[in-house]
Amino acid sequence: MSWVDDAKRRAAEAAADHVVSGSVIGLGSGSTAAHFIKIIGDRLSSGALDDILGVPTSHQTAEEALKAAIPLTTLDEHPELDVTVDGADQVDGSLNAIKGGGGALLREKVVASASKSYILIADGRKLTERLGDCQVLPLEVLPFSLGVVLRRLEGLGCKPRLRMGDGKLGPAVTDNGNFIVDADFGYIEKPKVLEADLKAIPGVLETGLFFGYADVAYIGLEGEVKKMEGR
Ligand code: A5P
Repeated sequence: MSWVDDAKRRAAEAAADHVVSGSVIGLGSGSTAAHFIKIIGDRLSSGALDDILGVPTSHQTAEEALKAAIPLTTLDEHPELDVTVDGADQVDGSLNAIKGGGGALLREKVVASASKSYILIADGRKLTERLGDCQVLPLEVLPFSLGVVLRRLEGLGCKPRLRMGDGKLGPAVTDNGNFIVDADFGYIEKPKVLEADLKAIPGVLETGLFFGYADVAYIGLEGEVKKMEGR
């Protein structure tokens, strides 16, 4: 296992200690969240945890949860979640994050907003002093509105790029049937202002800016896990 993969696993293990029996948990998407799902599955099968229900943030995560034998539920049945654990593409010192590298940002943000506690897990490469440095901001966009949205994004001074499918011709399509536009703004000095500007564009369904959600982040470094607290 590479140090990065091991760092992801150790961060996931630290986050798993926040999950107690009888909880309804949000399950994030991506390779780091996959470690968390496996660890929760292992704790359920060993009897260290019981009576857990999970709300997955993507089809991929639902499959991983099924493999790990974590019973699933929905936000209709459980509109309030005890804790959600999710990965990130970038995290700053205030626990603001950019997410959406896997295209699951819309469901991820809905689940984050429904969680009493929200924990980010990542390896040390994701830690940044300046959100947006060397990192695009993913946006979920209504396909019908693409041309308008790209034009408006250019007007905001960014370089937008429609994400293309991998193993599929044409654009990547999200679990919700939408497109992803990766918007390169460079360093995002005022995330709240940018979020408001982006949300004011009809057709931008959600942004990958997650600020004010996380109360804890575990960052896996070589040899240790750094705990950061926020909110
Ligand atoms: C999914 O859309 C993303 O928000 C992921 O949580 C994020 O890209 C982190 O993924 P990795 O854990 O695979 O780096």
